[in-house]
Amino acid sequence: MTKRFAAITGVGSYLPEHVMTNADLEKLVDTSDEWITTRSGIRERRIVAEGDTTSDLAARAAVLAMERAGVQADEVDLLIVGTTSPDYIMPSTAAMTQAKLGLACPAVDTMAACTSFIYGLQYAAAVIESGRADTVLLIGAEALTRLIDFTDRSTCVLFGDGAGAVILQASDEPGVEAVVLGADGTGAEQLIIPASGAAQPVTVGAVERHEHYVRMNGSEVFKFAVRVIPKATKQALAASGHSLDDLTLLIPHQANERIISTIEDRLGISHERVYCNLASTGNTSSASIPLALDDLYTSGRLSPGDLLALVGFGAGLTWGAGILRWTMNAPKGKG
Ligand SMILES: CC(C)(COP(=O)(O)OP(=O)(O)OC[C@H]1O[C@@H](n2cnc3c(N)ncnc32)[C@H](O)[C@@H]1OP(=O)(O)O)[C@@H](O)C(=O)NCCC(=O)NCCS
Repeated sequence: MTKRFAAITGVGSYLPEHVMTNADLEKLVDTSDEWITTRSGIRERRIVAEGDTTSDLAARAAVLAMERAGVQADEVDLLIVGTTSPDYIMPSTAAMTQAKLGLACPAVDTMAACTSFIYGLQYAAAVIESGRADTVLLIGAEALTRLIDFTDRSTCVLFGDGAGAVILQASDEPGVEAVVLGADGTGAEQLIIPASGAAQPVTVGAVERHEHYVRMNGSEVFKFAVRVIPKATKQALAASGHSLDDLTLLIPHQANERIISTIEDRLGISHERVYCNLASTGNTSSASIPLALDDLYTSGRLSPGDLLALVGFGAGLTWGAGILRWTMNAPKGKG
């Protein structure tokens, strides 16, 4: 029997129109364009429109991915939405998105913070490889700025909104070749929204203390990211039988340019083989990797046969790396 693989057959993204620049942030908090640019590499980010929420962004990215894959609503067997900024704690953002897309399939969220897309990739590949699904819609979507404290200069300069989506389908050719995931819950306090669930429900007091917003120990998260990501990348490469030299492109979670360049140094991979677009998006958490994929696809920088490493890290603490053989032809007129 031929092995079943899960291959990406469609990709799409959506970025809100409203651009918030570093100069705009200078008017809100005691910061400077120079500080933000040198410490993070971020110059601007997109802010979700009033009236829109995570599932709206998710649905817009998904429509494009489905169109490019030539997949109709009734062909989607499973919808997975990775998000750190769900519409609600209950019901799932996947259920909200499913209704907006007119799908009839099961729908579930993965909440592994900025690693959610890589966790979702593992689940999507597993259900396809096992024959339990033929077509999975996997989305990473965030209206994260709604959960950011715009009086806290240590976090508000870093994050942005957006969504990216992929269609994964059963194929005789790889596809997703390996995914390695990790979690270390002892680091939960390093990146957390303290008042957001059953441990500490949102109360008037919690809101007054701004505990319903993201809190982060930036330097600890930095050290964690540069420790786990090179290791996870090497593990995923080994699991797929490849070496670093085989990689066409490393696509890291877009959190911080300094994190990315430290990862480059530790892995010994040249800057040209590492994708970075965070200057214009900021950290879009679960959305950053599929947004990067769509940007690369639409600009004709991906060709069938390219070997990609998708690597993510975030709250939990969580991390993950996936090795992916790209199978889509570049759009007409590109590539
Ligand atoms: C957040 C981060 C950019 C901060 O950079 P850093 O070099 O570690 O800076 P520090 O936190 O040590 O702060 C240095 C100084 O800058 C100040 N500072 C913090 N944010 C600032 C801002 N936006 N503007 C100006 N100054 C700021 C601090 O108050 C501190 O001042 P002090 O020395 O007077 O106390 C960095 O730690 C980081 O990128 N961490 C990873 C974050 C991340 O990617 N999280 C998401 C993971 S999914």
